[in-house]
Amino acid sequence: MNIVTCSYGNPVGEHIREILNGNMVNVIIKKFPDGEIYLRIVDELKPDVPVIIINTTINTEAVLEMAFAIDAVKRFHVKKIIAVTPYFGYGRQDKQFLPGEAISASVIARMLTDGVSDFIMVEPHSDYIKNYFDCKVHIVSAASAIFEKFKDKIDLVVSPDKGGIGRAATVGKLLNTQYTYLNKKRISSYEVAMEFTDNISMNGKRILIVDDLVSTGGTIIKASELIKKAGALEIHVACTHGLFIDNSGYKISRVVDSLNTTDTVQTPYSTIPISKYIARSIEKAVDS
Ligand code: R5P
Repeated sequence: MNIVTCSYGNPVGEHIREILNGNMVNVIIKKFPDGEIYLRIVDELKPDVPVIIINTTINTEAVLEMAFAIDAVKRFHVKKIIAVTPYFGYGRQDKQFLPGEAISASVIARMLTDGVSDFIMVEPHSDYIKNYFDCKVHIVSAASAIFEKFKDKIDLVVSPDKGGIGRAATVGKLLNTQYTYLNKKRISSYEVAMEFTDNISMNGKRILIVDDLVSTGGTIIKASELIKKAGALEIHVACTHGLFIDNSGYKISRVVDSLNTTDTVQTPYSTIPISKYIARSIEKAVDS
């Protein structure tokens, strides 16, 4: 199979190429003097060879690159195009919270599916966004990758909010530990309030906090402070996507014993490799 990566597609793209023994396609991406993005697939693509296009759509440029790559591949009449966004940005605005709002996740889904047969992403903010895609959507879970890293090292898994209880349950069951969630109330983009929801003791335990993403770090810092006060022995964090706005990685690492994310977004905290699981999903999509 042929693999196309854009500016935000590596190192996951390169790992996937190695795992699947694929061919990395030569692509030129540059900017015109006015800032417009230009993309060209240099190699000749054969219609019968599936093409996997990989880019973490972490910002607006990355979204556009992905759309241009899909368009360029389509022009070779490739029959099977699979789009992979290890981290799907714009996923949080997945419905109208206030009247008059755009549903960004829906707009981006429409932009990135024209000519695409399968779309693969690692744990979007909510699985609900699947409905916005006009193609097959495969969601890759980070749970097994997290399990591999923390096997035998954890006593209790905690989600910092109710929405993440499913993730905590999946990881907790794999680790064979208890799991619970905290009550989180968002006060502003940077501030959250948090409290315990049950009487599960934290005292003397090795705690693993799991969440889908770290942005400002407000959520993880508040959760860690609460858990520390309750007497935890160790606090480890495993988040699927690490955006780390405003140096929040440094701020979190001062209050926890270890801070870990998958490598959907490459940072110094990307210690949980996810490519193996994305590669499996690609193989299934190619065969379907
Ligand atoms: C919220 O629903 C998410 O699961 C994350 O907890 C949240 O987006 C993290 O944001 P921050 O790091 O800014 O608190």
